[in-house]
Amino acid sequence: MTTSPLHHHLAPTAVADREEFERAVLDGLSRAPRAIPAKFLYDVRGSQLFDQICELPEYYLTRTETKILRACAPRIAELAGPGRALVEFGSGSSVKSRILLDAMQGLAAYAPIDISREHLDATADKLRRDYPGLRVEPVCGDYMAIDTLPDSVPRARRLGFFPGSTIGNLTPDEAKAFLRRARTLLGDDGAMVLGVDLRKDPALLHAAYNDSAGITAAFTLNLLRRMNRELDATLDLSGFAHEAFYNEEKGRIEIYFRSLRSQTAMVAGWRFMFAQGERVHTEYSYKYDHRTFAALVEGTGFRVGQTWVDDDSFFAVHYLVAERLPD
Ligand code: TRP
Repeated sequence: MTTSPLHHHLAPTAVADREEFERAVLDGLSRAPRAIPAKFLYDVRGSQLFDQICELPEYYLTRTETKILRACAPRIAELAGPGRALVEFGSGSSVKSRILLDAMQGLAAYAPIDISREHLDATADKLRRDYPGLRVEPVCGDYMAIDTLPDSVPRARRLGFFPGSTIGNLTPDEAKAFLRRARTLLGDDGAMVLGVDLRKDPALLHAAYNDSAGITAAFTLNLLRRMNRELDATLDLSGFAHEAFYNEEKGRIEIYFRSLRSQTAMVAGWRFMFAQGERVHTEYSYKYDHRTFAALVEGTGFRVGQTWVDDDSFFAVHYLVAERLPD
């Protein structure tokens, strides 16, 4: 096995990363209502905090999805067949992918796509050590923006993997656009394993995004720390708070940081005023039931092949199969 010296930089350089962050923040704070894209939550510290969220007692999602995946992995391996390239969209530390890697014999490659270069490098190294026979071809980039893979990923039949209910962090329109791009990237014989959080008792949903240890709050407020560090911002972290609630009508958790008082702060050379109680949106987490999920998939070039849920019906893992692309 040759080790690939460098992964493929679909994302721009560090300087351009900073410029993209600056543009997104200045743009997001100049709009009404204010919003900053959620992908910027995941710097090194943000990714670590997110890993901690996944272990929280209130955060049932990771635990439940892992349990479902363990149970259905042999069936997924059967449905997918041998010789696939496993392509993960937003791999983080690839903990769940190991369940599929363990169950699927003779994969042509594992291609994790992730925006955080540090995370991607460390994860790829560990996987190469733990799976000596496996070809690992990391792709650094924004999986929301690509519909082809670099030549380093072998031309095998592809199986996409999109766990963590990350699809719920997209608006339904974005989610449809993502599925269409994924369909193009995975090809006519492609398939995809996708995890979605289900609609349930709002109290359980609320607790999952307002943990008692305050890790989710730290995760949201880490965005302000990142602005202070990377954009020379002067945001007072004690002047803002994490806020998350379930919007039942829209079927989504809404996440913001809220200004606790009237204040001003500099960000990248610009002065911004925050009114008391003003919110800056950072993230949605849409919840789907089988009907609304089927509607989401409709017209994207996939159909729902099979669905597995846990005993409490907290979470669903779907196996999507490529079908003829709509004309
Ligand atoms: N996909 C995860 C979810 O929707 C992402 C997430 C979990 C998250 N906790 C969060 C995003 C807290 C922002 C804040 O549940």
